[in-house]
Amino acid sequence: MSNTVSQETINIVKSTAPILKKHGQKITTRMYEVMFEQYPDVKTQFDMSAQANGTQPAKLATAVYSYATHIDHLETLQAMVDKIAHRHVQTHVLPEQYPIVGKCLLQAMKDVLGDAATEEVVAAWAEAYQALAEIFINREQQIYQSN
Ligand code: HEM
Repeated sequence: MSNTVSQETINIVKSTAPILKKHGQKITTRMYEVMFEQYPDVKTQFDMSAQANGTQPAKLATAVYSYATHIDHLETLQAMVDKIAHRHVQTHVLPEQYPIVGKCLLQAMKDVLGDAATEEVVAAWAEAYQALAEIFINREQQIYQSN
């Protein structure tokens, strides 16, 4: 599992890890709020009770934080990526849905972090998210093909 993001992006993303640890769940809760409002069709794929009780936002926050911390040694994330990818295949997540989550996640970061979400931070996360999305899309394609 390799990454194609620039060293500068790696540095910026890693520097946001503490703030993500602190505000991660607020960001992911906001992310789902934005996504379900703007793209209500995706709701059918989710167990909405896991939204209401915060389980799913907590899982996503952990995944985003882990990625921020390990972006320069992604091989440590292989087990996590595998588990999430299998869940995504079970719930029929498709490649074309990744930009939706990316857009809503960046919006949520801006909404929650305010001034701390500088242009630099948002641009770095846009690049980093894209790279993570590609990792999931590739892994999920393998799983879909083996099913
Ligand atoms: C890089 C982007 C993404 C990350 C980091 C991520 C992360 C996660 C995590 C941590 C879980 C929980 C897995 C588990 O229960 O073991 C999950 C489940 C799920 N994800 Fe994603 N995800 C991403 C993109 C997407 C996209 C694009 C969609 C499409 C709408 C999506 C839809 C789902 C669904 C439907 C579930 C199952 C939720 C449930 O059980 O109710 N995810 N994801």
